[in-house]
Amino acid sequence: MTTVHEPATAMAELAVWPASATEPRPGDLAVGGVPLAAVADRFGTPVYVLDEAEVRDRCRTYRDAFPDAEIVYAAKAFLCRAMAHWTDEEGLGLDVCSAGELELAVTTGFPAERIVLHGNAKSPRDLDTALRLGVGRIVIDSPSEIARLAAAVGPDGHQKVMVRVVPGINAGGHEKIRTGTDDQKFGLSIADGYAQHAITRILDQPQLELTGLHCHLGSQITSVKPYLVAVRRLVGLMARLQEQHGLVLPELDLGGGHGIAYRPGEAALDLTALARKVRAELADACTTAGLPVPRLIIEPGRAIVGPAGIAVYRVLSVKHTAEHVFVAVDGGMSDNPRPALYGVRYMPRLIGRHSTADCARLTVVGRHCEAGDVLAADAELPADVRPGDLLAVPVAGAYHLSMASGYNLVGRPPVVAVRDGAARLLVRRESLEEIRSRDVGL
Ligand SMILES: Cc1ncc(COP(=O)(O)O)c(C=O)c1O
Repeated sequence: MTTVHEPATAMAELAVWPASATEPRPGDLAVGGVPLAAVADRFGTPVYVLDEAEVRDRCRTYRDAFPDAEIVYAAKAFLCRAMAHWTDEEGLGLDVCSAGELELAVTTGFPAERIVLHGNAKSPRDLDTALRLGVGRIVIDSPSEIARLAAAVGPDGHQKVMVRVVPGINAGGHEKIRTGTDDQKFGLSIADGYAQHAITRILDQPQLELTGLHCHLGSQITSVKPYLVAVRRLVGLMARLQEQHGLVLPELDLGGGHGIAYRPGEAALDLTALARKVRAELADACTTAGLPVPRLIIEPGRAIVGPAGIAVYRVLSVKHTAEHVFVAVDGGMSDNPRPALYGVRYMPRLIGRHSTADCARLTVVGRHCEAGDVLAADAELPADVRPGDLLAVPVAGAYHLSMASGYNLVGRPPVVAVRDGAARLLVRRESLEEIRSRDVGL
């Protein structure tokens, strides 16, 4: 165990927490006016806490930064009925990638015309549901989808579509979340001509109205530059489409991928700079190409919900080895697969009691049967952390529960919203009875 001589200051540590985070008393952390330890006592652990005001503020920050653009929240980051409701109230659109996400949103009252359907492999059910519910736009991601969709729409029908193109740009926080490069499963490449070919085929289908090009470069992008390169390449393709087909596309969707800090000191994408530079680049590229400026669409997921979420775990065991102290909590890779998938590390914090012990670097691990189930390899925590303590992990709102699994049959944690000093259950804990009831054979 390494003793840390200069522990991070309280203010610096709170940099990645929701703006509402306060420490009313030493060791007592509150979010949305609700002490996290009280949430743990009331709803049990592990539990995910979502700060409603933080979600709404982030939606408003996007709308202020991009006043002329359409902001479409990427539901894959996290979706529940309340989340759909909040984003609707804040005037955002919704990006879904399955019939499940779509049904949940529409049955909550989210207007279908403000929904964009994505997916590199949309099932017949996905497409049927989209058409039945009247989804606003469908983003075509493969050549075979064009005829399928046109047939499903029927000769008298009408559906707005975009085309997901691959601009050949390498950006994103990890190899597994880079989607702007050629030769991968998403989209249609500009470089090899597949994108142009697909567009010609879409134009042959009168019931499909092509409204724009789409690209999504990847996730956890912390620099503006890749987006500017994407604007140039996509406007270049738009100019060629105008020359060849006389086509002027009114929309341009640059996807999401805006990077956030998971630990204090980590880089995040500067949204104001992104908005200013993308707008200028788009205007300049369109002037050069002799095109009208299309309406911009962006699809942030992580940057809206990630920093609004906190995972709260209870410590189950503390084990000392020759070189490490392993602090094992009651959740892990089944509620948060990101460390195992991408090697991401978090900065948990002791809550619910004040410790005067020196800080040490401890290894916070999950309860699952994988050695890679590590939440924080070098967490700065009081050296006296013990079973029964509570640890809170900030920046837990995106791609945790939406990627949660049934591993080890522990059941997925609940989601609790906090706001103005009150906590309310949004999604209940998955019970063992529910898990058992799906198991119908013997
Ligand atoms: C098409 C599309 N748009 C938007 C997003 C959201 O990305 P992020 O959560 O990094 O903003 C994704 C994420 O995978 C995506 O695939």
